[in-house]
Amino acid sequence: MTRYEIAVIVGSLRKDSFNRKMAGAIARLAPPDFAFQQVQIGDLPLYNQDDDAGPADSVKRLKREIAASRGLLFVTAEYNRSIPGVLKNAIDHASRPYGQSAWAGKPAGVIGVSVGATGTSMAQQHLRNILAYLDVPTLGQPEIYLQAKDGLFDEAGGIGAASKKFLQNWVDRYVDWVKKHAA
Ligand SMILES: Cc1cc2nc3c(=O)[nH]c(=O)nc-3n(C[C@H](O)[C@H](O)[C@H](O)COP(=O)(O)O)c2cc1C
Repeated sequence: MTRYEIAVIVGSLRKDSFNRKMAGAIARLAPPDFAFQQVQIGDLPLYNQDDDAGPADSVKRLKREIAASRGLLFVTAEYNRSIPGVLKNAIDHASRPYGQSAWAGKPAGVIGVSVGATGTSMAQQHLRNILAYLDVPTLGQPEIYLQAKDGLFDEAGGIGAASKKFLQNWVDRYVDWVKKHAA
């Protein structure tokens, strides 16, 4: 069986992050040939181009994990109508040195949860712009904007009944997208 290792990048460091929980719940909706692994971004230094020649171990680890993956899943919070700085920092790290980006060509899905009614729509739009530049083929439809409300998750940490069909459809489309574009 061909396996699809997916690197999951969560755009929040918060211990009880809705987005981290959503990343776990989404993984449960995927078929058994998909394996999701959250990559750590909280221990990365702030990106400094001077360090390109001698990157920190955490940066090497990030690049190795992205390079080894066959697809990407971004599950991000929205901070001040954009992506959180920690996510941008991770994206910048793995995009460098120039010409040695780990992101290029990896098929991706973008999703997010926020407490605001617009459900990370602005953050996702900014992220799509970055990913387009990085040559990351990103699933366009369906878009998914989630507001953190009671019932979004069930007791076991899965997707709540009201949103399950909607999210299953998204995951099915994401799986097809990765299979179509993965190297
Ligand atoms: C610095 C900061 C900026 C925020 N800006 C937004 C925003 O622009 N839109 C929004 O819907 N929520 C915003 N929020 C609220 C987040 O949706 C909320 O903190 C959410 O829980 C973050 O996701 P997480 O649970 O995965 O950490 C902001 C929160 C912080 C801390």
